[in-house]
Amino acid sequence: MDSRDVLLVAAIVLVPIALMWAVFLARSGRPGAPARAKIGIPQAMRPGEPDEVLEGPRLERIQTWGLIATLATAIFIPAYWLPEVQRQEHFQERFQEEAEHRGKLIYSQAPELDEDADAVSFKAIEEAIQLGQNCAFCHGGNLGGGPVPTGFVDPLTGDRVEYNAPSLDDVFQRWDEEVIRFTIERGRPGTPMPAWGVAYGGPMNQQAVSDVIAYFKTFPGNNEPPELAEDATGEEIFQARCAVCHGPNGEGKEGDGIWYQGMALWQGDAAALDESVHYQTIVNGRRFAFMPAFGEAPAQGVPIPTYPLTEEQIEAVMEYERSL
Ligand code: HEC
Ligand code: HEC
Repeated sequence: MDSRDVLLVAAIVLVPIALMWAVFLARSGRPGAPARAKIGIPQAMRPGEPDEVLEGPRLERIQTWGLIATLATAIFIPAYWLPEVQRQEHFQERFQEEAEHRGKLIYSQAPELDEDADAVSFKAIEEAIQLGQNCAFCHGGNLGGGPVPTGFVDPLTGDRVEYNAPSLDDVFQRWDEEVIRFTIERGRPGTPMPAWGVAYGGPMNQQAVSDVIAYFKTFPGNNEPPELAEDATGEEIFQARCAVCHGPNGEGKEGDGIWYQGMALWQGDAAALDESVHYQTIVNGRRFAFMPAFGEAPAQGVPIPTYPLTEEQIEAVMEYERSL
């Protein structure tokens, strides 16, 4: 609320009160006002008016006002109701825009406040300071992903390694909202991805998680299918759909450069997998080991992916993986 709103509210509340007082004072001060004479006798104990008075022009006046009030109500209700749909749509749009705005601030680094900043400049960035969680630190300012700047200590060997934070401007091409929310709230233990949900010791409540997800959805990659030609080769499919997690060469965590979240699929690892296990893994994924499903009709209980691969594409990418 800024000062103009305060003035407006004050005017709406105070002006009618002032008017009513003025009318009251003007009337009660009039010489010979009827109230004076009867002061002291309670209303209920005064003699009633005779029928001629009660049923004369006064009754008609009251009836006329009753009719006018009824008509006014009858007109007001539909007139108010007609634009209700637009009103609701407008509110939804506004809530959506506000959620995206907050989501962007949550994703970004909180700005620093100058030590000698005045109240006005604090007000201007207060929301950003309050909300900023700096997902951008790892996932990149443009959501493009990249190596986690602090590196990551391998829990097995104690060595510091480079760990890739996946891109989030296309995360809906891989995951449905349930997995995305689950990941943000609980983090991925054993990886640099921290838990953010208050229920898991983080700073973000459900609203904040919804806001950051709303922000993700403003990126075109989260509303479009992945770019992939009809007749893409196994390798092209792998680069478009699998490399973000398994590494561009399927190295997973076995490369000597950067670690990726998926398992290594090279050095004969994938070829050593039983063919039907390999195939079923691609079709059904391993949902809460964070390998997505890619089949058009995965097993019961596995949500159908938004952008599945066709039977031929699955066979092509499987063949490519077994050749790595
Ligand atoms: C969102 C990240 C992600 C994407 C995208 C992804 N994977 Fe995976 N994948 C994983 C993870 C994590 C595992 C390890 C799961 C586990 O621990 O069982 C895995 C495991 C696998 C395995 C089993 C490996 C083994 O040795 O058991 C195969 C095969 C596989 N992925 C193939 C693919 C293919 C093919 C694609 C692309 C069409 C793909 N993955 C895309 C994350 C991903
Ligand atoms: C310290 C670095 C770091 C920060 C900060 C961070 N993340 Fe992550 N995030 C990661 C890493 C690394 C992964 C991959 C984890 C894995 O291997 O499964 C990840 C994974 C994810 C995933 C799943 C992506 C996928 O394809 O499976 C989502 C969604 C996500 N992060 C959202 C967020 C949000 C939202 C924030 C801020 C509130 C955030 N992250 C902050 C490092 C980080």
